[in-house]
Amino acid sequence: MRRILVAGNWKLNGSIAMTKELIGGILAGIGEVNNADVAVCPPYPYIPLAQELLAGSPVALGAQDVSDQAQGAYTGEVSAAMLKEFDCRYSIVGHSERRSLYGEDDATVARKFVAAQAGGLTPILCVGETLEERESGVTDEIIARQLDAVLDAAGIAAFRQAVIAYEPVWAIGTGRTATPEQAQAVHKFIRDRLAGHDAEVAAAVQIQYGGSVKPGNAAELFAQPDIDGGLIGGASLKVGDFLAICKAAG
Ligand code: 13P
Repeated sequence: MRRILVAGNWKLNGSIAMTKELIGGILAGIGEVNNADVAVCPPYPYIPLAQELLAGSPVALGAQDVSDQAQGAYTGEVSAAMLKEFDCRYSIVGHSERRSLYGEDDATVARKFVAAQAGGLTPILCVGETLEERESGVTDEIIARQLDAVLDAAGIAAFRQAVIAYEPVWAIGTGRTATPEQAQAVHKFIRDRLAGHDAEVAAAVQIQYGGSVKPGNAAELFAQPDIDGGLIGGASLKVGDFLAICKAAG
């Protein structure tokens, strides 16, 4: 039975004070979250503070990105091993904002996925189509391409230690959520594609949905057979909303 995983992606938001307030609030309410595993992904500079605040708690820590390189002359990069030293369990890779605003292509994302695992992190691999792609009927094709780039580079067995997040670009930060049926259809497509390689791995991998998840729509999304939680942007910056989404797991 797959667990629900709810992860907060704070994006470029935060401060020392906000990190203390958000994590303090989450820890105060986490006792009432029964059926979800929970993680937070703050910006890099707040990771040591988050590590300290989360120590001994059931809430996991993640990064929003990771270098595709392990070490060396790569100015500005942060490696998986560095993040691991601060008890990060996860790193998001291939978020659509990284793909569209910072030019990360499928090959780069695949290298980051491999580097994250090599450094001991569980990658949260983001895939998703733009509105234009959805409207031209190529959603499956886009998702398959994004997924296959990682399958080719890492192999199906690597998905034993990975999470996938389906984030339709048109639903991110727009308030326009995919309907549970739309999301479920793509989640099933992803799982079926993995099952073409290994049915057991496909059945076990957690596939999160991301894109305007709110307390009001989380339960319906999480109830879909192939939706295993959420990657939460805006609503993860409000303690009450984030906890309500975690509790929507049941
Ligand atoms: P929003 O929840 O703000 O739409 O962001 C989703 C997202 O991109 C999470 O990674």
